[in-house]
Amino acid sequence: MDFDRVIERHQTNSMKWDAVSTRYGEEGLWPMWVADMDFQAPKPVLQAMEQLVEHGIFGYHTIPNSLREATTSWLKRRLNWHVREENIVFTPGVVPAIHHMIATFTKKGDGIIIQTPVYYPFYSLIEFNERTLLRNPLIEVEEGHFTIDFEDLENQMKKGAKMLLFCSPHNPIGRVWRKEELEKVAELAAKYQVLVVSDEIHSDLILTGKHIPFATVASSKGVEIITCMAPSKTFNLAALQLSYAVFQNKRLQKEYETRLTKQFVGVDNPFATAAAEAAYRYGEEWLEQLLNYVRDNIQYLKEWMKEHIPKIRVIEPEGTYLVWLDMRALGMDAKELETWLRKEAKLALNDGHIFGTEGEGFARINLACPRRNVEEGLSRLYAAYIKRK
Ligand SMILES: Cc1ncc(COP(=O)(O)O)c(C=O)c1O
Repeated sequence: MDFDRVIERHQTNSMKWDAVSTRYGEEGLWPMWVADMDFQAPKPVLQAMEQLVEHGIFGYHTIPNSLREATTSWLKRRLNWHVREENIVFTPGVVPAIHHMIATFTKKGDGIIIQTPVYYPFYSLIEFNERTLLRNPLIEVEEGHFTIDFEDLENQMKKGAKMLLFCSPHNPIGRVWRKEELEKVAELAAKYQVLVVSDEIHSDLILTGKHIPFATVASSKGVEIITCMAPSKTFNLAALQLSYAVFQNKRLQKEYETRLTKQFVGVDNPFATAAAEAAYRYGEEWLEQLLNYVRDNIQYLKEWMKEHIPKIRVIEPEGTYLVWLDMRALGMDAKELETWLRKEAKLALNDGHIFGTEGEGFARINLACPRRNVEEGLSRLYAAYIKRK
């Protein structure tokens, strides 16, 4: 796969490229924001979808058993996680899946913990469902290394939290949690009877270290855990809206499935199931190449920043293709920084404050794009920086 190839995405109804001016209220922005990639999905995925087009009938669809098999063998092969096919519930996107978990397993007013700054839809799901948001901000224990504040986590749990929305790997910080960290979280969740919903959508995108499914450490600690996963970030299939939840507890699974069935929520798209299955069966080599490309982009960004704008601190991610940039030393408040990025740098990054107040003065940049696109983004940043100096 030629990851250097630049593929035009304008006028394809791409959110990243075509909705950017509406979203940011500014024309001519270079888009390095929403978490999708500017790369084509693996060839076998395209071929699987072409076959469907050739057949040409798009009636109501059902999830094939072969997708369950491809999914469990992927989890075994990549993560050494042995999941039973019947413990998987397919869902139309991780965010909707979490919404239904909140609605099924908690009540109005119940406390839900998130580890901030964090993927911003978590806030909206908690608030929309009228649950109580409990923050457990991550702490930077040494230069560029963030971890969980366990003392504070315990305090939040003591407040009667019913659920922890755990992000693993963490977006936007990029942490790939170590076994000891997962074990501590599991011990606390078990002690305070907190249901853990572990959003592991980025679990295939590991740059250093290895992803440990939370469920593999949690089960022995007596924690209730539901894992959310998807091939969408891994293989750039977000628009197909296929994800899945892995359950450890049959009773919880039944409750959840009943809710989804009664509300007619499911994965009904033959393109999604065909693409997911092809990706899991034949996408491994593509993924390895992608990860190398992203690693190189991150290395490039780090070196470039050190040389050109050392005031911007690159928080090097262990996972995901998203990089958290600490721009506080530029001396602007959150609003000024936002305006400067749009109006002066002409760049669309995700403003740090949308991930929570801890993100003020930060921005998230998406490096899942050809190197030339990274260079364009950085040259815009540099031009604005020089002008401001
Ligand atoms: C942590 C996390 N969860 C969920 C999603 C989105 O999931 P979906 O598109 O399946 O709703 C994202 C996308 O960026 C994400 O970063």
